[in-house]
This record gives sequence, structure tokens and C-alpha cells, in this order.
Amino acid sequence: MDRLRRISRHLLAGDELGLSPESCAAAASSAQPSEDAKQRKSKFVDIIRTYIMETHRLRTTGETPSMTLHEVLMMQPPYSKRTGLGKQLEKAEAKGYLAALSLLPGPWADAQTREDKLRLLELDWMAQQEGIQLQLYAAYQERYGDKGLGSNIVVPSVVMHSKVTEKITPEKQLTPLDSAIVQRIVARVIVADPEDAERVARIHVRKEPNFGVLMDSIISTTDNEHWREQRQHLVEAFLPLSSLAEILPVSLARAKDCANRLGSLAKDGQPVDMSDFLLHEAQAQLQLALLGAPESLMEETNQGIRKTFMFHPDAKLGDLSNAMKELMKVAQEDRTLGLPSDGCPVRGPLSRALQTGNFHASTDYGNLLLILFAGHDTTGHTMTWLTFELARHPDIQRKVQEEVDHFFRCLNGRDPTYQDLSKFDVLDRCITETLRLWPAVANGTFRQLQFAEELRANGESKVTLPKGTFVTISNWCRHRNPELWGADADSFNPWRSFASEELARVGCPMAARTPQSARFSPFAHNPRSCLGKNFAQMEMRLILSYLFHKFSFALAPPYDALMDTTTKASDTNPRTFRGINSGGTMGPMDLEHGGSVSEDERFLVAMKLRVAPTSAQAQWHARHRRASDVQDTLYESCEGEFVSNRGEQAGLYGSQGSKKTGVSFKFQPS
Ligand code: HEM
Repeated sequence: MDRLRRISRHLLAGDELGLSPESCAAAASSAQPSEDAKQRKSKFVDIIRTYIMETHRLRTTGETPSMTLHEVLMMQPPYSKRTGLGKQLEKAEAKGYLAALSLLPGPWADAQTREDKLRLLELDWMAQQEGIQLQLYAAYQERYGDKGLGSNIVVPSVVMHSKVTEKITPEKQLTPLDSAIVQRIVARVIVADPEDAERVARIHVRKEPNFGVLMDSIISTTDNEHWREQRQHLVEAFLPLSSLAEILPVSLARAKDCANRLGSLAKDGQPVDMSDFLLHEAQAQLQLALLGAPESLMEETNQGIRKTFMFHPDAKLGDLSNAMKELMKVAQEDRTLGLPSDGCPVRGPLSRALQTGNFHASTDYGNLLLILFAGHDTTGHTMTWLTFELARHPDIQRKVQEEVDHFFRCLNGRDPTYQDLSKFDVLDRCITETLRLWPAVANGTFRQLQFAEELRANGESKVTLPKGTFVTISNWCRHRNPELWGADADSFNPWRSFASEELARVGCPMAARTPQSARFSPFAHNPRSCLGKNFAQMEMRLILSYLFHKFSFALAPPYDALMDTTTKASDTNPRTFRGINSGGTMGPMDLEHGGSVSEDERFLVAMKLRVAPTSAQAQWHARHRRASDVQDTLYESCEGEFVSNRGEQAGLYGSQGSKKTGVSFKFQPS
């Protein structure tokens, strides 16, 4: 135990994570529940029963449930996930679920006693809660593997598995218990070797059953044929020219509105939480353009949906389930919706696809729930990370602004079309680099081997993993591996040499392909790659081009302390600024409200930036611009610059400086 405690302390700054002797004692004392805790627990058991019955009804009769699993989990009493780990460990060992733990390097080798094993499992569970699991795995890779972040390793993990993630057919006899989601302990292989990762992702299409919350939807189904049927049907809504180019005007109108909205929020000079702002806008884009929802419904439901998915302390019960009911109604009843194949104007194509799929109600329900989540969190976080990095790199921010200014000047007052989006280059590079450094879906993809598979182990050896092994093709470790990207792998560098198949483009003939390689798979590899990537690429370019055309961004306190910091892939100190990877996507840690670490408290996401209109900058630049050759002129003809006391260029309003970092700025004529 002591040995493991030492190792885990080293790996995970265990004391700080709440696993100090004091906090363990606190947890133990909560094992003798008070009357209040007993009541809470019994209420929770009733809620779970209702959820199971309603999910069963959805699966058998198609009746829409009154609550989602997210809302159920919001009411979960603290520590309840931990209880029973001992019994689950015995069961997992007896059933042979943990056999793979001896096949590859990993921390299990050091766990000699039952106590050691339980502690490892607690660490895994705590790391999931803190959104720091991938950093923990990276630390394990560096410790136990001989290829650093490129080492394939195996870890014990506490998972929530669903019994029914296969196609629901009329013949299928389901009992209410089939709707339960069960906590299990499994051996999880982290595939980090680039060749292994690409090969496994491409051929083992079968998913792990850990998305039961999303029923038998396209992302969660473990039935490959059912997945193929859904994919073939839903993909029409995402076809670049026949669908996305047609709904672009809705996206565009919202992108213009969003720039006005940001202007109002930033009017009095107050910093803006760009994470909240961009998550809101991504949810707006999704509902208005893809689902064809009325604007009033979108505004009414936007915040509630987001807070529930995030398990935000202010989330209200019913917000997500009521939104689901209303949006389901839009999909089922709105006769003005259209897909390209309907031969009428394309409107809300994804809602129309839900209407016409002829799938079971649980598939449609799961897909809507999936889309409301995966369709906004991912894009919102990516845009936030990008804005954060450009605020830290004013020189690159200026290059983006020059490019978007040039873009709008070339349009000469007309609105951009889908094809016009192919004109970006710097923005494309910044988006691609953000997807590498801060992959919104940092977990990558969870698969279950369809047949035995050989993977690299330490040294030159290879091991054969049996059919059924759970494997994670994680993006985090491959995207941050210096062996694959160079010594600056932890830094934002949009000028790095991406292979052409990695660079994301929009609006040109090859744009619909998935940006991917052995070392890079922000949207997962084909064929089970992201379905919404083309929409995400379009909306990000529309929103970001308007925002960077109209505004400049700089870090606001307390985020200004991050100006010159680097976030290491394996930094497991929970107090260091990092990506919070909880609930499936990774956003920036809220430095103001995420500081205290306790077992039932979740880290939140936020990113406060100063936002200033670019008009003053643009006027200044305009005086020094030749009509043609804009790209180079702006940068080279600067006659002065805000420069920090450390000698760095600072952009327009770095001039405010920061007391915390001791950095100040002044204008320096050249
Ligand atoms: C920057 C934005 C996005 C990123 C980085 C991203 C990334 C990913 C990744 C890595 C997966 C694989 C997940 C897994 O296998 O468990 C995935 C799947 C999926 N994504 Fe996205 N996504 C983004 C935006 C979107 C949007 C906007 C939508 C919908 C509007 C969407 C819909 C889906 C769907 C439906 C799947 C399941 C595909 C399948 O299993 O065939 N995504 N995404």
C-alpha cells in the first residue's frame, strides 16, 4: 500500500487530489450515513427506478421519458460511485475481465495487494471526476512505457456500461433491467502507437457499450450493421454542397448576430467569458441551422441544455428533458423541414432526417440527445481554445485578422458563400493546430476489438490482445507526442508542417474528407469518424471570421497569468491550469470557480478575455495599407507597436498589462 501510495503521489500529486489521509478519513466517515444522507440515497434510488421504467417504456412503446440520465446523475449523492468497488473488483477478477492487465505495461504491475488495486481504481475514478484522466494516463505512459507518450499501456478503469446499445427490433424481448446502466471494472488498453492507433480505429468499428446514456444512437450502437444504416441515412444532412451550402445563410445570419451580441457584452469594457459565449453560439448554430428550430425555442433552451450536460451547479431539473420534448416535436411535426432529396428548399435537415429515418423511437431519442451535446460542446470548446491561443499569441492573432479583413474586402460587400470559405489559409492552420493541441474530443474513440489484434509492447515485442478487449484510441497522447510533432509539441504553432491530409479545409473539392493521419485524428478515423465535422468546419469559419474581423482578444485576469505558460500532457496536478475533460469533451479550466478540490465538486470550464473592437486598429492600419498586397503590407509597415516590458509585441490592448504577472505595455514607435 505504502509503495503504491508513493507511486500514486508521485504520479498524481495524490494529496492535492483529495486522496490525502485526511480526505480518506472524511470519505470513510461518510460511510456511516446520517439520516439526511439515507433519505437522499433512498430518494435517488426511487429516481433511478423511474428512469429505468421510463427508458424501458421508450424502448418498448416509444413513449418519451420525462427525464434524461444527465438529470438523474445531477441528483446523485456524493461518494455513491465509490461504494461497492471491492465487490466489483472481485466480480471482474472472477469473470476474467481484467486478464488484459497483464499483457501490456501499466500501473497494475505495481499493485501487489487488494488495497493497492482498490487505490488504483479510486485514482482512476477520481481522475474521471476531476476531468484529468487523460493526464493520468499520460503520466502512466511516461512511467511504465518505454516510448513515452507513444507507448501502448493498459490501465484498470471504472466504467458505466449499458446492456442495450444494439438495434431495438420488435422481436427483441426486453426487461426493465436491460435499461439499467451498470458500473463495472475493466482493463482498458490505451492505444498510443500511431500505426496501431490508425489500424485499430479503421478496422475495429465496434464501439464499447459506454454511451448507454445515448441509447442505441449512431455514436453508441455496438451493432455495426445498425450503425451503418443510421450513418447512411443521417449523412445526407451533412453533405457539403447539397445540404450545408444551402443552410449556410441561416448559419451566416447567426454568425453576424453573434458578433453584434459580443459587441454588446463587451461594451462597458468588462471581460467576457468566451467559453460560455462560444458554447452558446455553437448551440444556437446547431438548433437554428441544422435542426430548423425557431429562434425563441433556441434562446429559451440554450443555457439549460448546456448547464445540464456540464453538470453545472445551477442546472435545473427538467431543462434538458423539456428541451428534448420540444425539439422532438419540431422534428416530428414541422412540415416545412427539408433534406436535399425532398426536392424542396433545404431547412433543418437534421430534424428532417430524424423524421424520415424509420428507426426505433429510442434511436431517434438517443440521436437528438447526442446531437444536442456533440453538436455544440465540441465546436464551442474548439473555438474557445483557438481564441485563447490567439490572445496568447498577438502576432498570430494579427495574421488572422489581416486574412479575414482581406477576405471581407474581396467580397466587396456581398455575403460569403460556402465556396468562399476555401479562401482561408491562416485560419485553417489555426483551427487545425487547435484541434491538435486542445482536441475537444481528447478521449478519441472507445472500441471493443472484433477479433484478436497484435499491438506493440515495450522494447521490440508485440502482444496479442484477445477479441472483446476494450481499447481507447486516445487523441490526447498522440497529438502531444514530441516524437511525432517535434520538441514544441506542447506549444501552439500553426506554421508547423502539417501533412496535406491533416489540414482542414472547407468549400473546395476535397473539403469533405476527414482530416486524419496516424498521428492526428481530432474527428476520429474513417469510417467511424465524426458525422458533423463538415458542419463544424463551416460554422467555425463563419463565427471566427466575423469575430476576428470586428474584435481583438486579450487574456483577462486571472487568465493573464497564463500568457507564457505551457501545459504539459502529463501534468496531473489538479490545480494547474488544464483542459477539463469530463462528460466526453475537453474545455478550459475555470480559474475562478474550479480551484477547490473535493470529491463531489466538478471542475467547471470558463475563459475570460478582454474584447475590444478592431475599428481603431483597422483605421490605423488603413492609413498604412496599399490597396493590393494586403497580406504582407500590414505586418511589415507597422510604424509602432505595443511592446511589453519583456520586449514582446502585445497587440492592441495588451496595453492594460497585468498586476499579477508584472507585465506592462507601452506604445513604441518604430
Ligand atoms: C470541432 C468539432 C467536433 C469534433 C472535434 C468532433 C469529434 C468527434 C469525434 C472524435 C467523434 C468520435 C467519437 C467516438 O467514436 O466516440 C465524433 C463522432 C460524432 N460526431 Fe463529432 N465532433 C465535432 C463536431 C460535431 C458536430 C457539430 C456534430 C453534429 C452536429 C457532431 C456529430 C457527431 C456524430 C453524430 C458522431 C458519431 C459518428 C458515428 O459514430 O458514426 N460532431 N465527433
